[in-house]
Amino acid sequence: MKIIGTGSALPKKVVTNDMLKEFFDTSDEWIRTRTGIETRRIMTDECLLDLATTACKRAIEAAGICPEELDYIVCSNVSNNYVYPTLSSMVQGAIGATCPCIDLRNACAGYVYALDVADMYLQTRRANKILVLAAEEPTRFCHWEQRETSVLFGDGAGAVVVEKGDGFLGSKMTTVSNTEVLYQRKRLESTPFEVEGTYIDHIMVMNGREVFRMAVSGCSSEISHLLQDHNLKTSDIKYFILHQANMRIISGIQQHLDAKTEQCPTTVQKYGNTSSASMVILFDELVRANKIQRGDLLVFSGFGAGFTTGSCIVRY
Ligand code: UT7
Repeated sequence: MKIIGTGSALPKKVVTNDMLKEFFDTSDEWIRTRTGIETRRIMTDECLLDLATTACKRAIEAAGICPEELDYIVCSNVSNNYVYPTLSSMVQGAIGATCPCIDLRNACAGYVYALDVADMYLQTRRANKILVLAAEEPTRFCHWEQRETSVLFGDGAGAVVVEKGDGFLGSKMTTVSNTEVLYQRKRLESTPFEVEGTYIDHIMVMNGREVFRMAVSGCSSEISHLLQDHNLKTSDIKYFILHQANMRIISGIQQHLDAKTEQCPTTVQKYGNTSSASMVILFDELVRANKIQRGDLLVFSGFGAGFTTGSCIVRY
């Protein structure tokens, strides 16, 4: 796999920590010290498809190809308001592509899984050019009276175009079945046969401390094993592009890896946690700021509900 173009898109509305005080008892100080988040972007009159389409068009333009040249779209997404059809089928029509599409639902770690699937399609010669995107609106998952979760998230989308190449050095994926620490059930219709008391609520449930602990230990050990398997040291990696959920989680992983602060760039302070879109939004910003050069080694690593982690090494 070789990455030939990147793009991202964010909602225009900037929401500061102080603005959240209108909805529940919180403070800028609490949010900054516990998460590092200062602002986030939240959708107003946009919809997720708009963001996803803009991010994809930017990636396609940067790659210098036509949408008709794509022969697969792989999309990481959990928060689209359609259960079906897939977000990727909607994006396909919006950008004028004609290829098959698939959505992966692997929560915040989904982007690394999407890259991994794209690499397999390229390696098995079943595709030549693939659009890999992540688009999420996790702010629509939050119960806006629940301060524990509502302060954490933001909306956004990011995409890359990949083609055949030798830039995907390897990946490591882990799922440890622990469905209690982070989950959300979807709202289902009632049936006339339903037994009383089987109503399922659909509010996000999160044990923040446990997610924090599993994220730091899961990502750190996965990345360490991956580096070891490829005979690489922390200092060989230009950037660790980590899931942007919490500044303290990023610092924890950085310390475990003995990486320098500048090796772990962040956007969480500006955009909050945009779920699986967070890594690719950060990546696009680094590429567009000319902070990544061809040949640089990058590690992507994410964690999320499952409990799932996924990491990969990419030579840009
Ligand atoms: O993509 C994966 C998504 N999830 C995550 O990344 C979550 C990972 N976990 C975390 O980031 C942290 O655990 C949190 C930021 C969610 C919470 O930080 P914490 O240091 O683990 O705090 P806590 O949950 O132990 O809560 C400490 C106190 C509690 O009050 P009491 O019981 O000590 O009186 C909470 O009620 O902070 C209170 N609290 C708040 N106070 C002001 C919780 N949320 C807020 C809030 N504003 N927004």
